Amino acid sequence: MKTKAAVLWGLHEKWQVEEVELDGPKENEVLVRLTASGLCHSDEHLVTGDIPMPFPMVGGHEGAGTVVEAGSEVKHVTEGDSVVLSFLPACGRCSYCARGMQNLCDLGAFLINGPQLDGTYRFHARGQGIGQMCLLGTFSEYTVVPAASVVKVDTGTSLDKAALVGCGVTTGYGSAVRTAEVKAGDTVVVMGIGGIGINAVQGARIAGARNIVAIDPVEFKRTKATEFGATHTVASVAEAGPIVGLLTRGNMADAFIITTDVAEGDYIGPALDMVTKRGKVVVTAVGHPTDMQMSGNLFMLTMMEKQIRGALYGSSNAQHDIPRMLELYNTGQLKLDELITTEYALEDVNQGYEDMRNGVNIRGLIRY
Ligand SMILES: NC(=O)c1ccc[n+]([C@@H]2O[C@H](COP(=O)([O-])OP(=O)(O)OC[C@H]3O[C@@H](n4cnc5c(N)ncnc54)[C@H](O)[C@@H]3O)[C@@H](O)[C@H]2O)c1
Ligand SMILES: [Zn+2]
Ligand SMILES: [Zn+2]
Repeated sequence: MKTKAAVLWGLHEKWQVEEVELDGPKENEVLVRLTASGLCHSDEHLVTGDIPMPFPMVGGHEGAGTVVEAGSEVKHVTEGDSVVLSFLPACGRCSYCARGMQNLCDLGAFLINGPQLDGTYRFHARGQGIGQMCLLGTFSEYTVVPAASVVKVDTGTSLDKAALVGCGVTTGYGSAVRTAEVKAGDTVVVMGIGGIGINAVQGARIAGARNIVAIDPVEFKRTKATEFGATHTVASVAEAGPIVGLLTRGNMADAFIITTDVAEGDYIGPALDMVTKRGKVVVTAVGHPTDMQMSGNLFMLTMMEKQIRGALYGSSNAQHDIPRMLELYNTGQLKLDELITTEYALEDVNQGYEDMRNGVNIRGLIRY
């Protein structure tokens, strides 16, 4: 079949919206008609090279839609089902899945390749195969994805809002609740209030944090952070230190979560300085792949048992956590509607990313 998709043909280029050929699903794959796709910063990393991937690539990894056709071996969804696409596939059988770490499933190794799990392409244009961001490619009206990436959700789910649960909501919430293990009464600092950081703020709020300090240089982001549960907002890490000191009688924060556009090695030292004994510095933002240096006081790391933790998908298990996120939304505890600042047509995907770079969106959303 033919579908319209946004394709990136090379580093530092613009997304090209064009008609492409899409093959039907193989036995363990699912053809999905997308309702919406979020504009996550990770697709921007394809453009800048901070996530090294082969080109060409259909972008997008934060989407939800309806099953059009399920391959013959697919057991858990069928035509007409509402689904959220998980940006990480989970096989359910590898050692990591078996231990409840679906976000670290061995299938994750296939994410940086481009083609589907069997090594062949579903998208084709200009005489060649086109890869799919995170095996998904949600910047397309239709896509074919691995069954291992498909999470069934209740019929009647608002799939436009649910799209954001495929990456940003689950990653941000999980960074606070699962990776940082925020508990009632904790003091939490979130650095960078984009689509991920704002959900770390609401995750910390839902977990019962007593102080949530949001850091962002953009005033609009700080206003949004307050709406989502931040108790204090500042424009820089330097301003956060004294406030965290006052709020905690000098003990400092239980968690410092880094959700900036890019992670830099020199963010770690000030973050470590701002956490308490056994406090956690969580790195959710993606760093430059060639960066080998991090700052920080090693003596205090040991003496105060401080911890630095990477967070992939907020340490979440998609098959369990995506439906839970939607239940938190249905019961009024998790905000989704307020995450969407601007909606775009697929043709305007480049405008959406320009708006993200200019700091005017919490999340941009492509609606099909
Ligand atoms: N680990 C994962 O599983 C995972 C999943 C999705 C996204 N990510 C990554 O998370 C990061 C954030 O993504 P996003 O979509 O929220 O991006 P975004 O562009 O929407 O938000 C980034 C925010 O950081 C702010 N910022 C930049 N420099 C700052 C600084 N020095 N101090 C404070 N704030 C600063 C910006 O003003 C912006 O509001 C990206 O690196 C993305 O690739 C990681
Ligand atoms: Zn993402
Ligand atoms: Zn697995």
